[in-house]
Amino acid sequence: MNYKAPRGTHDIFGETALGLNLLEQKAKEIFIRHGFEEVRTPMFEEAALFARSIGQATDIVEKEMYVFEDKKKRKFALRPEGTTSLARAFVEHRMDISSPACKFFYLGEMFRYERPQAGRYRQFRQIGAEIYASSSPAADAEIIILAREVLSSLDIDKINIHINSLGCGKCRPFFREALVEYFSSVEDLCEECLRRLEKNPLRLLDCKIDSCKLTDLPKMLDYLCHDCKDNFYMVQFLLKKASCNFTVNGKLVRGLDYYTRTVFEVRSDAVGSQDAIAAGGRYDNLIKEIGGQNTPAVGFAVGAERVLLAAQSVGFFKNLKSPEKIFVAIADQEFFSEAFAFAVKITRDGINGNKDISVFGPINGKSLTNQLKFANKIHVSKVIVFAKTEFENGKVLIKNMKDKKQTEIELNKL
Ligand code: HAM
Repeated sequence: MNYKAPRGTHDIFGETALGLNLLEQKAKEIFIRHGFEEVRTPMFEEAALFARSIGQATDIVEKEMYVFEDKKKRKFALRPEGTTSLARAFVEHRMDISSPACKFFYLGEMFRYERPQAGRYRQFRQIGAEIYASSSPAADAEIIILAREVLSSLDIDKINIHINSLGCGKCRPFFREALVEYFSSVEDLCEECLRRLEKNPLRLLDCKIDSCKLTDLPKMLDYLCHDCKDNFYMVQFLLKKASCNFTVNGKLVRGLDYYTRTVFEVRSDAVGSQDAIAAGGRYDNLIKEIGGQNTPAVGFAVGAERVLLAAQSVGFFKNLKSPEKIFVAIADQEFFSEAFAFAVKITRDGINGNKDISVFGPINGKSLTNQLKFANKIHVSKVIVFAKTEFENGKVLIKNMKDKKQTEIELNKL
């Protein structure tokens, strides 16, 4: 019987595994420089938590969650995103006391039952960061700049940052009303829009069929209250000051209901139709909504797979320097244990201070010719040979696999 990875999932190996590690490492470095601390949350939570935070009438909760019952008939869901789990952990552990800076990051697998295509998977990885307890527009700007920095660390500089404000509890209801009024008079709305009109009018702006062809749509920016307007201008001002380019996109709404005020999406042409490689925004009510104190918050997540697609398209991986491969070989079987101990030593200490190496060998019971064949196959640059005559004089042979030149060197000099 043939087994395959489930549809929408993929095995990560080779260049992708290297790329993913590098992205995670660079993101961690950037987050730590900005004062963020890592939090790892479980991959599943009570299903009701996601419904409460992301919104019952969202695609994620209605159609895309992997929900299951455990043996005691409790309903859980594989996490479709990281923000909710982190907020739950923040409330549960009163993390504002242990980490008063309230800046957290996370990375890990997320799960959504979506129709798979390039850049859209059922299991994917997000790398995200959230700032709690700050309602300052500087936190919004920092989060957007952080997203740009993470992408830039993989040479992804051709990006478009779209920003919008969704207002607050005071002003958004007026916009909602205006949307409902506008769309109620549109004839022949698609089925999805008819549903959204009823349940989640903001998402009407997201419809690729209807809202794209309609003109004079109401814009949230025209409905912002005084405070939200000031706040949004300040976010823009700070972004400009930090030379972060962006486009104000009045049609940008997000697929999660928890957002208030600033929302943003980072898009890259390199990823095809799934062009959002990072996204986020402010969500000042979520923590209270799930049982915590009133705590404003703002954050973002990049989709690691989409970032890697974009990095590939700018040739980022071609410029990666991989460690030098070194093979330790034996010309005489009697030196196997000496060669083995030497390989262990250089793996740990490096060669002449160079630790950027990968060490292979020695292989017991194989002729030198066969060992060299293998070394060639795995593209090593140097082979260090333990041979009788040289070894008895405290030396080894070093064979350069590119020019095939061979030199002798004293073992204690390596
Ligand atoms: P989101 O827009 O749903 O936001 O996802 C963030 C990013 O995850 C997307 O921009 C995309 O790159 C990636 N992504 C989403 N779905 C998939 C998928 N099916 N396959 C591959 N990549 C995907 C959130 O999840 C929010 N929690 C972001 C946030 C953090 N807001 C505030 N803080």
